[in-house]
Amino acid sequence: MACPVPAVLIHINAHDRHFPQNALIPPAIPVGATNRVKIPMDIPLPTWKLRNRSLLPIVQGGMGIGVSAHRLAGSVAALGGLGTISSVDLRHHHPDLLESAAGCRDREVLDQLNLAALDREIRMALDIASGHGAIAVNIMKAVASHAAYVRQSCASGAHAIVMGAGLPLDLPDLTADFPDVALIPILSDARGVGIVLKKWMRKKKLPDAIIIEHPRHAGGHLGATRIDDIGDPRFDFTPVMEQIRGLFRDLGIEHEHIPLIPAGGINSHQQVRTLLQQGAAAVQVGTPFAVTVEGDAHPEFKRVLAEARPEDIVTFMSVAGLPARAVLTPWLKNYLRREKTLQSHAKADPRRCVQGLNCLTVCGLRDGIAGAGQFCIDTRLAYALKGDVRKGLFFRGAENLPFGTAIRPVADLLAYLMTGAITAGLAAVHSCQTRVDVRCRNTGSPHRVT
Ligand SMILES: Cc1cc2nc3c(=O)[nH]c(=O)nc-3n(C[C@H](O)[C@H](O)[C@H](O)COP(=O)(O)O)c2cc1C
Ligand code: SF4
Repeated sequence: MACPVPAVLIHINAHDRHFPQNALIPPAIPVGATNRVKIPMDIPLPTWKLRNRSLLPIVQGGMGIGVSAHRLAGSVAALGGLGTISSVDLRHHHPDLLESAAGCRDREVLDQLNLAALDREIRMALDIASGHGAIAVNIMKAVASHAAYVRQSCASGAHAIVMGAGLPLDLPDLTADFPDVALIPILSDARGVGIVLKKWMRKKKLPDAIIIEHPRHAGGHLGATRIDDIGDPRFDFTPVMEQIRGLFRDLGIEHEHIPLIPAGGINSHQQVRTLLQQGAAAVQVGTPFAVTVEGDAHPEFKRVLAEARPEDIVTFMSVAGLPARAVLTPWLKNYLRREKTLQSHAKADPRRCVQGLNCLTVCGLRDGIAGAGQFCIDTRLAYALKGDVRKGLFFRGAENLPFGTAIRPVADLLAYLMTGAITAGLAAVHSCQTRVDVRCRNTGSPHRVT
């Protein structure tokens, strides 16, 4: 079927969000840049350097689909952190692009629409950041169009590409024309880091940082091959960081000081401090950012994550062939009840990719892989993004949230992780060492943040 391809990439208002009129979307702003900074100067944590940018030691992890888009990533960057846009299927935030895609099953056209959405989201995030912090784009290697996403992200001005869900062996080649873009692999153990380093070094490239994600704690897809391996002590941060430093020595690159960034279950200031003392340059946090006021998902999405009890959080096999972690909402409960039966009927059939998006290189449903999930992950995550509690798949990390069930601004979360202070309302945080001029997006008047 012929579908309309967007001829030009349109830039829309930075705060537009495509949710029903009656949704409790926070009004216009509040982006972090407009908040006043208040941080006790005697307890600043050290900043870290991504290329020539000094950043807060708190990285906001990429969360698909659409959970971390321009508003969240831009707000984190505006306060001096690394904000990450998840690149997957961002057209769900753009009604005009969704309309162009209606009834379309042509992968090329759908890809073009997603690239247009990605371009918009990156530019809007950069706009909110106003030159502070940095904007990264998270791209899953398992996604069939990952190469196009990488190229679009670089062309649209992203400062960094973060790649996980598979070994990012081709990332240096894909970004060869964009030497200023920082490259950050997500891996879970020293073995994976070794493979990537050796391959990249043959191309005379080193990662600008490495995220080490712990499968026992993180949300979304997990970096273990089997569910039974998730709790393996070989993934524990302390030994993994030690082994990676040994690897750096063996490969003669210890002098390069590649920043290590643990991720998964980090929910307190004390944990941040301990990890930094153990040699981490920063930490990556996912779920606590997903439920902030500025998080790009529907308020119902945030409520489901925030109110989930430990017994509501489960791991299961995703359609991408990796274990994943999510909240046991009605759809997932029902799916898991039927999982064995569905897997016994697994059959390779391109028509099972009902959307025609063919988002994954290897898809358990479309390709008939009995050991993998048997559902369309894109459809389910899109329901969750829009707050459909009955039909959605709600990825979530395993641990408690810093503010319990409360939905609070990014500035409060950063302030808490940086200082341990549970601030009231408007407190915010920045890099402590710098003074930053930001302009209020509401009034256009300058704020001096100290
Ligand atoms: C809703 C949700 C979606 C996620 N999607 C992605 C993704 O698309 N790509 C990715 O590399 N990691 C993804 N993650 C993992 C986060 O970026 C982060 O590393 C992880 O959740 C950290 O653990 P925490 O949630 O306990 O802080 C996702 C996590 C959540 C909660
Ligand atoms: S069926 Fe598989 S490949 Fe097709 S859109 Fe869904 S998850 Fe992606």
